Amino acid sequence: MNLGLVNKTALVLGASRGLGAAIAAGLAREGATVYAAARSVEKVETWRIDLPEDAGPVLPCAVDLSDLKSIDGLVDDLLEKGGVDILINNTGGPPSCTVLDATRSDWLSQFETMAANIFHLTGRLLPAMQARKWGRIITLTSSGVEQPIPRLALSNGIRSAIVGWSKTLADEVAADGVTVNILLPGRIHTQRVDELDAIAARRSEKSQADIAAASATSIPARRYGRPEEFGDVAVFLASERASYITGSKIRVDGGAIRGV
Ligand SMILES: NC(=O)c1ccc[n+]([C@@H]2O[C@H](COP(=O)([O-])OP(=O)(O)OC[C@H]3O[C@@H](n4cnc5c(N)ncnc54)[C@H](OP(=O)(O)O)[C@@H]3O)[C@@H](O)[C@H]2O)c1
Repeated sequence: MNLGLVNKTALVLGASRGLGAAIAAGLAREGATVYAAARSVEKVETWRIDLPEDAGPVLPCAVDLSDLKSIDGLVDDLLEKGGVDILINNTGGPPSCTVLDATRSDWLSQFETMAANIFHLTGRLLPAMQARKWGRIITLTSSGVEQPIPRLALSNGIRSAIVGWSKTLADEVAADGVTVNILLPGRIHTQRVDELDAIAARRSEKSQADIAAASATSIPARRYGRPEEFGDVAVFLASERASYITGSKIRVDGGAIRGV
């Protein structure tokens, strides 16, 4: 299947490691030009060196998603170059806490970085996509928006708001050839998942390996997903071939979400 990604330009946020890195590498493998954004841009090199010679160019760019000035600086640069065709909205995950422990300031600061700043950045990059009558906006959330995850109160709550934003936007720009979708990772094996398992291990006085094994057993697929498996779904959604998928939430969770 020709995904039609050669000559397309993508901005992938949170691309220094984990899911963002897997998506950025997947897009580059399909020939897209990829702006790979994160705070520690030097880490982009850790996965860029493994790309085949015929991959599209990967251009690391520094951004701090908690800082509006930094975001606007990146967007100004990209708009000067003509904007992007594909936007992968991916942020760092919020700290683990219960609803009872989360303070008003936790909600506000995490909402600003994970939601309000992403809405702002998307709003600035959208008009160029609308003018070209082609665009893809893909936002990563979590399985927690369909089945809230205990002790991830900030993630469950803020990401549910992001789903509402994405669905509303999908309706507003569908006729302009811009698709807007949400991806729901279940348990995909990245450093963040290892860090969350380590926290759970300390809390329960079990080993991290035992926590990970129990977590994997609870998933119908009986294993964590691989970042490339997640990246491949994002690459398809970003492609020419996915032109009639919009306003959707797509699960990549090995069957972990129990509801239909
Ligand atoms: N992996 C899973 O199974 C899973 C499941 C559900 C939800 N999620 C969510 O999906 C997202 C990606 O997951 P992941 O496992 O790949 O997480 P990760 O390994 O922690 O990667 C997060 C990425 O975001 C970047 N980032 C963090 N804070 C940033 C900031 N202020 N400004 C710019 N970039 C920032 C990080 O790079 P720098 O530190 O270099 O900036 C990194 O590249 C997270 O929000 C996570 O909560 C993941």
